[in-house]
Amino acid sequence: MSILTLKNICKTYGKGNAKVNALNNIDLDVNKGELIAIMGPSGCGKSTLLNILGCIDTPDSGSYFLDGQDVDFKKINGLSDVRNHKVSFVFQNFALIKEFTVMDNVLLPLKFRKTSKKQRTDTASKYLKELDIWSLRKKHINELSGGQQQRVAISRALCQETEIILADEPTGALDEENSKKIMDIFCSLNKKLNKTIIIVTHNPIVADYCDRTLHMKDGRWIDK
Ligand SMILES: Nc1ncnc2c1ncn2[C@@H]1O[C@H](COP(=O)(O)OP(=O)(O)OP(=O)(O)O)[C@@H](O)[C@H]1O
Ligand SMILES: [Mg+2]
Repeated sequence: MSILTLKNICKTYGKGNAKVNALNNIDLDVNKGELIAIMGPSGCGKSTLLNILGCIDTPDSGSYFLDGQDVDFKKINGLSDVRNHKVSFVFQNFALIKEFTVMDNVLLPLKFRKTSKKQRTDTASKYLKELDIWSLRKKHINELSGGQQQRVAISRALCQETEIILADEPTGALDEENSKKIMDIFCSLNKKLNKTIIIVTHNPIVADYCDRTLHMKDGRWIDK
């Protein structure tokens, strides 16, 4: 059963001579419970595509069906609902709030849930421990290494416990051991809880963990 379907998605940035065709008529069909890697050279459109799937950016044309629903990119409120409840996102640049502690960053997206403060803290703690950064929970983001920040960004996404996880180069700042640990966690969420996970990566070892790998170039699939 399809959980994510894109049809003819196009996205350009800029105008005139500065115009960039970031995505050219992209189709995509992802089944529930798939673990997918997207690879391709820098600038080929991978983040643009993931941002549209996460309703963080809007396409110029084309359609997007998420869990059977036609996503209306004109409805800002509807999209924040998608962002808060259906899809969690690991940003390529982490997008952490520098002035907040690790714990407060991870708790932030849970604030709008109808759960108790204790439940939210327990959930955040569970993932901080799983990613070996529990001891850093009271530190501020600017006191952390790049790899530690990346693990905070991943914890923040995982503790939302959504059906769909989109991760933009989630191991880009990590050493081999931590990269394997992250992929083991993603695989376990995929196999045990049937989560649908899409990972953008430059790392073939990461792609090897996935059910299928899609290759992109110049805003198009090259293996379709
Ligand atoms: N906000 C923006 N304004 C203008 N151009 C943009 C913007 N975002 C992306 N682009 C351009 O769109 C193209 C696709 O960018 P995108 O970030 O999707 O690439 P990517 O495949 O994720 O690259 P990388 O592997 O380096 O992260 C690039 O040519 C980029 O310069
Ligand atoms: Mg990118």
